[in-house]
Amino acid sequence: MTFSPELEARFEKFLDKYPAGRKRSAMIPMLIYAQDEIGSITDELIEEVAKRVGVTPLQVNEALTYYSMLHRKPMGKYHVQICTNISCLLVGGEELWDRACHKLGIGHKQVTADGRVSLEEVECIGACSWAPAIQVNYDFYHDVTMEQLEKLIDGLAAGKRPEEITEVAKVNS
Ligand code: FES
Repeated sequence: MTFSPELEARFEKFLDKYPAGRKRSAMIPMLIYAQDEIGSITDELIEEVAKRVGVTPLQVNEALTYYSMLHRKPMGKYHVQICTNISCLLVGGEELWDRACHKLGIGHKQVTADGRVSLEEVECIGACSWAPAIQVNYDFYHDVTMEQLEKLIDGLAAGKRPEEITEVAKVNS
């Protein structure tokens, strides 16, 4: 399997960090960066990473079942993760989730027909003090109101980048 020179350099750096017998520690970061490049965790990628870190494909598959940020099928250009764990649940996280599903007409780990937006209901994303919290790709949005969520979802669905949706960008600052 071939990757970009940039990704190959990253892989090399990760594998250099760990001594022989501990190369498996590079597995998750390698999978995350590879997913960013190719869009999802394919069977071919699993085989390749397993070979490079010295584990079996089954062991890579086992890790995949634990890490929800790793996806076996491609997500949308903007992957919106909405936390409905306890701190967020208590301040409207579930309502945000329901509204996002309703507006986009998709559910958990589904993608809009144009491939622009996908949704995922997630466990705690480590932002409990600023609940309800959501994440779009690698950016966090804190203290999200229903109005802000609607603007974000409408904007993304219309093809805007998150930073172009000014009302929501304030939330992230
Ligand atoms: S419970 Fe939602 S960020 Fe922790």
